[in-house]
Amino acid sequence: MTAVGRVSLVGAGPGDPDLMTVKALRLIEAASVVVYDRLVSQAILDLVPAGAARINVGKQPRHHPVPQEEINQTLIRLARAGRSVVRLKGGDPLMFGRGGEEALALAAAGIPFEIVPGITSAQGTAAALNVPLTHRGISSSVRYLTGHCRADAPLDFDWQGLADADTTLVVYMGRANIAEIATELTAHGRAPETPVIAVANATRDDQSHLISTLDRIAADMDAAALPGPVIFVIGEVVRLAASLGTLCHAPQPDRLAVAE
Ligand SMILES: C[S@@+](CC[C@H](N)C(=O)[O-])C[C@H]1O[C@@H](n2cnc3c(N)ncnc32)[C@H](O)[C@@H]1O
Repeated sequence: MTAVGRVSLVGAGPGDPDLMTVKALRLIEAASVVVYDRLVSQAILDLVPAGAARINVGKQPRHHPVPQEEINQTLIRLARAGRSVVRLKGGDPLMFGRGGEEALALAAAGIPFEIVPGITSAQGTAAALNVPLTHRGISSSVRYLTGHCRADAPLDFDWQGLADADTTLVVYMGRANIAEIATELTAHGRAPETPVIAVANATRDDQSHLISTLDRIAADMDAAALPGPVIFVIGEVVRLAASLGTLCHAPQPDRLAVAE
């Protein structure tokens, strides 16, 4: 009888291979099969050994070619066949990555697994664009949000709490709903001139960004059409980016004090 294998749910980080953990790299280099997502960068996939099988289960927004249940069953089937599986996910597996669901499915099936954390895109973005997510005297807390709810359900957030000026907001998957998010935040008291940075492909060679304000971000995003996955950081801490050397790229860069 074949001994059951093991699944490692591995965070690949935001894209730059140098931001992977040593453990993630070690597991990838020893993998016999890698099951990976759309957000895992090519630079990281290039590290997978030539002899290892690669299974792409990548999903696009609103277009999920491989249903989550099928991904779970693939992991279980491979492990039952005795394979040591690396389940490679963008960023951190437990941050809006459905890593918890996959872990639950593996646990229910009696498959040994481990979780290897990765640098989430919020942290990658903060470092790459010089935006401290908290800063003494400016921001005392940070909240991570999804800008997209299951089956496109309406966003149902504690808007009053999110409008707190001392809190930095990081919005994942927010491209389609950034207009609604900005409108709700200002309607609940967040200042319209609150700075916002939108970053696409953070930490990758093709990284791009724009700096805007809550009342302009939706229009600026339409005009800029940033390519790739986008993350937003909203809050006064964005002003520090200019002091730390990040240039303001926006359709009208002169209207935000941050660019001085
Ligand atoms: C399904 S979530 C996965 C998040 C991932 N588990 C993490 O920890 O970063 C996908 C969203 O993460 C964000 N994202 C992931 N990688 C990114 C990158 N390199 N640059 C900008 N945003 C990124 C985008 O908001 C994207 O829509």
